[in-house]
Amino acid sequence: MADFDFADVAGGTNPFPVADSRAIPAARYFDAEFFRAESEQLWPKAWQMACRLEMIPEVGDWVEYTNLGKSVLVVRTEGGISAYHNHCRHRGVPIAGGTNPGTGGNASGNCRHSGFICPFHGWRWNMEGENTFVYGRQLFDEDQLDHAELALRKVRVETWGGCAFINFDPDAPTLRDSLGPVLGRLEAHGMNDLRAEWWFATELPANWKIAMEAFMEGYHVMMTHPQLQRAVPGLYNARYGNDTGGIGLPIDPDQSVADNIKAQIANLELLSTGMAGMCHAKEVEIARALADAPLPATVAEAVPVWWGLVQEAISRKLRAAGENVPDLNAVAQSDPVNAVEYLFPNYFLLPFFTSMASYRIRPLGPETCLFEIWSLTHFAPGKEPPPPLVPTVLPYDSQDFPMIPRQDYSNIPLQQRGLHSQGFDFMRLSGKVEGLISNYQRLIDLYLADADGATRAAASAKLGGNFDGPILPLT
Ligand code: FES
Ligand SMILES: [Fe+2]
Repeated sequence: MADFDFADVAGGTNPFPVADSRAIPAARYFDAEFFRAESEQLWPKAWQMACRLEMIPEVGDWVEYTNLGKSVLVVRTEGGISAYHNHCRHRGVPIAGGTNPGTGGNASGNCRHSGFICPFHGWRWNMEGENTFVYGRQLFDEDQLDHAELALRKVRVETWGGCAFINFDPDAPTLRDSLGPVLGRLEAHGMNDLRAEWWFATELPANWKIAMEAFMEGYHVMMTHPQLQRAVPGLYNARYGNDTGGIGLPIDPDQSVADNIKAQIANLELLSTGMAGMCHAKEVEIARALADAPLPATVAEAVPVWWGLVQEAISRKLRAAGENVPDLNAVAQSDPVNAVEYLFPNYFLLPFFTSMASYRIRPLGPETCLFEIWSLTHFAPGKEPPPPLVPTVLPYDSQDFPMIPRQDYSNIPLQQRGLHSQGFDFMRLSGKVEGLISNYQRLIDLYLADADGATRAAASAKLGGNFDGPILPLT
């Protein structure tokens, strides 16, 4: 396949490039030099989800975002959203927050009247980033205190999907150009109007990519989330095959329509409780009320008709309750979404009916990452709950995590350990359903090879919709 020609790249920055698209070298998940290459070549050029916007509703509200030792302040100003490198222009102290890099920052406050005040010698800046005070000004030469030059250094910021995204690269393509049609698809599904209902975080002893890749295929469901496969075996068997080695459930060809609908409802209940809201309780309730709806006589005909009825009822009833939700049947036709939608490099969404789960994963070191989950849903205007300003941080094996992520977390640290086994050289990927892992890894290689922004953006746009998909040529 005609991929990017790495031979053209002045080398040395990527010690373990993906040479065979079906084989991902194990060292990419723990090698310190590879981690350094990502820190220098990937993260500073990628759009990073920095915060949810409901955290900063008022002018002057700010929140700190950290990644790999870099700290950024995202501020709501009169004109919109601004972002600044979080360091004092005097001697470098973070001017706000700065105390909690290991858990992702998350300091917050309001600077509308106070401005930002450096805790070391008290220099000040307003929310527009302008310097407003230098203590003992006469102690400095005037040419050291040029007003424009003393301003806080700006970081590029764009808003989308209820979030602020930052990018340290002045030359990076825009967020929309970088990510492609996936953004429009999620907007059609009401993404811009969602708000966080809860926010959990955990530190996982695994490379950030291992954690990301645990959500790039549904091939693991049969073994990792057996209750999901058992609820609707037809869905999984149709995709991955009937032969589950006696572990999963085969499709029952004699299942009645009524039993199948019961199973569909049980599956929605599992998704709702197991994900604590990705399929929201209010939506399950609406589906349950349609358990006895008149349906065609065969399962094959009845199931899509039932889903259409459920989606219609959810849209109608939630709109009647004042929520700005999409017409689910219309957007299923016009803008179909995938079970998981990825926004390279470290943010992804699991859309389901009108609600979504949203995940962000940041590296804390070569073999540690910070893993966050938000449950997102719509609220009628005026009925929004106060937004969570910090995540509830739990150990990854906490029973307080919803069941499905807990099942995913149970594999991730083990897999990280397995990578170090003698004789384990590479991930052996299915080119049919684990393609996204390969495509992601090869896009990382494009960054490490310093490919130009347009090449990176074109490759990144191909990843949208690639969940459970094939290995693709990226360039
Ligand atoms: S380091 Fe900030 S005022 Fe001195
Ligand atoms: Fe999973």
